[in-house]
Formats: sequence, C-alpha cells, structure tokens
Amino acid sequence: MTALDKLKDDHKLIRRYLDNLFLAHNFLVEREEVPASVFDKTLEFSKKFMNKYHHYREEYVLFLKLAEKKGGTIDPQIVSLRDQHERSRDLVSQIKEALKGYKSGDEVATSRLAENVGYYVSLERQHVNRENHVFYPMAAEAFSAAEMGEFDAEFEKIEQKQGPDAFKNGVDLVESIEADMKAKFGAVYRDAYEELVKNRGHKE
Ligand SMILES: [Fe+2]
Ligand SMILES: [Fe+2]
Repeated sequence: MTALDKLKDDHKLIRRYLDNLFLAHNFLVEREEVPASVFDKTLEFSKKFMNKYHHYREEYVLFLKLAEKKGGTIDPQIVSLRDQHERSRDLVSQIKEALKGYKSGDEVATSRLAENVGYYVSLERQHVNRENHVFYPMAAEAFSAAEMGEFDAEFEKIEQKQGPDAFKNGVDLVESIEADMKAKFGAVYRDAYEELVKNRGHKE
C-alpha cells in the first residue's frame, strides 16, 4: 500500500468518525442526551489519530515534499490546508471546554458543545474532500513511483516511532463511539446512519 493509499484509508475512517459526530450533533440540537463518553472518545481520536498520526504524516511528509517539488507555486494552498488543521485543533479545544459544563448539565455549555461539534464536522468534511479531490491527485501526478517510494519509507519510520497499532487504535475508538451511540439511540441511530451513507452516494 502506498503512502497516499494509507492517507486515503485514514480519510475513510475519519469520515466514519465525522458521520457519527454529525449524528451526535443532531441529537444535541434536539436536546437529546448524547453520552458524554462519545465526546471523550472524540477528544481522544482527534488527538491520537487525527493530529499525531494523520495530520503529522500529511504535514511532515506530503506537504513538505510537495512544496519542495513545486518550488513555492503551491505554498498558499499548503498554508491554507495547514491552517485548517490548526482551526480543527482549536475547535477540539472548544469542544473540550464545553464538555466540562455539558457533563454537569449546564445549558449554555450544551449549546456551545453542539455549536462547536457542528463547526468541527463541517470544517473537517470540507478539508477531507479537498484533499481527496484536489490535493492528493496533485501529489499523485507530481511524483514518480520512485519518489512515492521514498514517502513509503518515511511513513514506515513514523509508524515505527508511533507504534504499529496507531491505525487499529483509531478503528477501535470509532467502533467504540458507534457502540455508545447504538446503545443509547438504537434503531433511530441506525436508520439515521444508513440514511446519511445512502444520501452521500457518489461523493466519496
Ligand atoms: Fe489534512
Ligand atoms: Fe487528511
């Protein structure tokens, strides 16, 4: 599996995570009580999988090499993608802050949590689409097979450093979020989830 394939696989898992958060957001807006564990796991997934694993490999391997290769012509695009990573982290900090009040039943904190989860999902979805449809294809075109091979080696190094289970741990967390949502909302959650996947259709 090439480095780009690995990043695309990360995106599939990230989309599944975002779908769950989108549903959690809708339940919050309807003033349904979403288990706080869903958001605790959101914080964990965001930190361990998104930042330390996925964004790290994008920023320190793909973005860097592509910027070098393109000799500055795509710097504004890279700055903008990095900026989205940073805004995503800021929104997660807001979610973390609001979660404290949510856990004690604070009404303002609940609204703030719903609001920030909504912003976060919408930013991340847009970001992942942009990478899948614009940025990754540009990288696929810019590099030769040999250069792509160098990425693979860089990724291996990072994976060794972060432990071989980084991806699997991410999958486990998303499954655990899904289990919490199912346990709380049952068929309503399952139907809404199926509807979401069905409606997205070809856009993946
Ligand atoms: Fe990214
Ligand atoms: Fe990405």
